[in-house]
Amino acid sequence: MTDEQQLTAAGNEMSASFLAAKKRSDETLAKLEANPSSFTMLTGDRPTGRLHLGHYFGSIRERVAMQERGVNTNIIIADYQVITDRDTTEHIQDNVLNLVLDYMAAGIDPNKTMMFTHSAVPAENQLLLPFLSLVTEAELHRNPTVKSEMEASGHALTGLLLTYPVHQACDILFCKANVVPIGKDNLPHVEITRTIARRFNERYAKKNPVFPEPAAILSDAPEIPGLDGRKMSKSYGNSIMLGATAEETAKLIKKSPTDSERRITFDPIARPQVSALLTTAGLVTGRDPKEIAEEIGDAGAGALKQYVIKSVNEFLAPHRERRAELAKDMDSIRDILHDGNKRANAIAEETLDQVREAMGMKY
Ligand code: TRP
Repeated sequence: MTDEQQLTAAGNEMSASFLAAKKRSDETLAKLEANPSSFTMLTGDRPTGRLHLGHYFGSIRERVAMQERGVNTNIIIADYQVITDRDTTEHIQDNVLNLVLDYMAAGIDPNKTMMFTHSAVPAENQLLLPFLSLVTEAELHRNPTVKSEMEASGHALTGLLLTYPVHQACDILFCKANVVPIGKDNLPHVEITRTIARRFNERYAKKNPVFPEPAAILSDAPEIPGLDGRKMSKSYGNSIMLGATAEETAKLIKKSPTDSERRITFDPIARPQVSALLTTAGLVTGRDPKEIAEEIGDAGAGALKQYVIKSVNEFLAPHRERRAELAKDMDSIRDILHDGNKRANAIAEETLDQVREAMGMKY
């Protein structure tokens, strides 16, 4: 095969596996709607900063909906994943506690959803040893997300970055989650999790499978662009933080770039910056961005920005109020995390015990 043919083949394979995953996601969601309490969800975030509107519309909203439907919901704050591609844990305490604040302000109820951190659950981490024996080095190197994260980091590939998808399998499998809501970039990690579950059961637990093969849940929510039309990312300074003040939000929106054409139109390809503002306003108001564009028309970018500022701040006001209220009592937030960690430890111990049993390692 020529390079080009190889690339096309790789592309086709990717999209075929994406399509298969999307189909599985849709089928699983249909089953989940019929019988929510037979599902266990696990998903999570790296505590690298504050949550923004992209997180809210892309995932947090869905987690709250699953929780309310009666799915057994779990959220991992992936603190060990922070050091896959950076060499500091500066601000980690603050980031972890602020994640809990944002989850709760968004509607996550600690009585229904277990929130916990990697580093507090040793038995979960211990699953990494048997799981690593179930994958080859070549499989680890083939993971496209690991490759792009390494390139973006500008650091050498660390052992942890190479193996973190297997660690993510530990996150998912220790609590026997069968649904994992994620973005496309995390799909390879759920795929390797399925492989690990299958191989473990085949190798050690043929009669009594220990692990489910979880389905990735791929959201249909449109990706919300950053204020400058690029991907919303903390490092671009183009994200609206859930916990920012109304003034900070106004300032950020005011200084976002637009173009020289006065009339406002919705055209994501030709006018990404104006369209990003319209998409944002559309999401927070539930309106069609085209309709907003027509309404603003010749009033120009200044008027558009005023509209975005007002609608975003109105949308986030209740979240911010709840957040500020919760933040008055950080001891309670710490207690909630401790409780989540305690529950996660009990579950992880039980699973690790089944793993030892299956492997004949109970002495
Ligand atoms: N890798 C995920 C991210 O970068 C975070 C994460 C860690 C996760 N463990 C997980 C997601 C388990 C789903 C399931 O956002």
